Amino acid sequence: MSPTEVKFPVNFEWGVATSSYQIEGGVHEDGRGESIWDRFSHTLGRVHNDENGDIACDHYHRFEADLDLLQMLGIKTYRFSIAWPRIFPHKGQVERRGVEFYRRLLTGLHERGITPAVTLYHWDLPQWLQDEGGWENRETVHHFVVYARLLFEEFGSLVPRWITHNEPWCTAFLGYGLGEHAPGLKDWGAAARAAHHVLLSHGLAVKEFHRLGLKGEIGITLNLNHVEAASDSEQDRGAVNLTDAFFNRWFLDAVFRGEYPQVLKEALFSPHLDSWGFVHSEDMKVISTPIDFLGINYYSRSVVRYKEEDSMHVERLPASLPTTEMGWEIYPHGLYALLTRVRAEYTGELPLFITENGAAFADELTEKGVTEDGGIEKSGIEKSLVGKGVADAQRVEFLRDHFDAALQFIREGGPLRGYYVWSLMDNFEWAEGYSKRFGIVYVDYATQERILKDSAKFYQKVINQNGLEDVLESRA
Ligand code: FCB
Repeated sequence: MSPTEVKFPVNFEWGVATSSYQIEGGVHEDGRGESIWDRFSHTLGRVHNDENGDIACDHYHRFEADLDLLQMLGIKTYRFSIAWPRIFPHKGQVERRGVEFYRRLLTGLHERGITPAVTLYHWDLPQWLQDEGGWENRETVHHFVVYARLLFEEFGSLVPRWITHNEPWCTAFLGYGLGEHAPGLKDWGAAARAAHHVLLSHGLAVKEFHRLGLKGEIGITLNLNHVEAASDSEQDRGAVNLTDAFFNRWFLDAVFRGEYPQVLKEALFSPHLDSWGFVHSEDMKVISTPIDFLGINYYSRSVVRYKEEDSMHVERLPASLPTTEMGWEIYPHGLYALLTRVRAEYTGELPLFITENGAAFADELTEKGVTEDGGIEKSGIEKSLVGKGVADAQRVEFLRDHFDAALQFIREGGPLRGYYVWSLMDNFEWAEGYSKRFGIVYVDYATQERILKDSAKFYQKVINQNGLEDVLESRA
């Protein structure tokens, strides 16, 4: 399929996503406080090569040029996150310089005609909150609402789309259960408490947002995984049920039905808890406060089967399809299947966004642009990039096939409103450090140069060809 066949509805919101800790650097600038990711990444052995986000893409100092890059690519909407420790570096202290940084960023986006989508929490919890128990402590919920309110009040008129949390699964299960992300705990009781408090803080922030009567929309971003059974046996289907509860339903059921899947409570969490007393009687109602949209991050699928010896009786099979550099199977159909399933079982006509989708590949920078430029106008900023390139054909194919899966959903009337590619540029990939490159723009970390990969040019073309009159035809 050529890019010209990729057609989407008029006003489809093509975007790219990033997050604060992954790109900003400037960790000591303008009074920023320590975050759990500063602490974690500076603890030896936690991150690949002991790398950290101290400098990252130096976006804190280069954001104007990065906004020019967005504009040049024709990006319509930009999803980024606000670093909580820039706003509240210490308990009870607001840092105005942090607030003003994000005001400059938001103003810069508006000046360039790009719609902002702001994530309130993309994992960089202030360390002072972790010192008091982090997400295990119900008090953190209160602090999150104070933080959210301040941003709603400051930026309510500048931000049409708010995302309370990015991937609570990672915050709670990777951070407190599996120990692979900050704060690095391995305690499933702690993970259950953390997940509950994250969700509660989401619900309360949504209520606060609506109470303030702001014009924009608010939702949450969940990372969902398409889970399949290795065989049709009852036991393997049981393994799917449990894995699906773990990756997907713990959060979907809570946000859309106000309940947690019993099967996972029993199999994973209850053995590690004295009681579920941290779930107060009104909490589930708060967590399921109606939202304006759901954000879905989709990267891959899992194939699972029953395994007697495993404590949860689940075994995840090794990849049988080609994978990305993360070892994640490339499975575009899973995106279609998930969107369809979420719509049918949870969201109905609620607007959906793909808030992240993309891939890491072993990109090689070449001294010459190796492919034709796809008819892109060379503006000032791009001229400075001429002469270097990255021929990332695999990423182009990955994106094209996932766009196609999304389009299939739209053709069937699915309410998908936008698509944020992860990521604008290569960045600090959490526990993987800088070893995994997800950008459509290459970052040369030694010089902080940004170099367009072929996927950026491909995406620019896709965006350019959209918003055309003939788009409705493609819905036939
Ligand atoms: C998601 C995260 C994002 C990025 C991608 C690859 O889980 O939200 O920050 O790391 O994975």
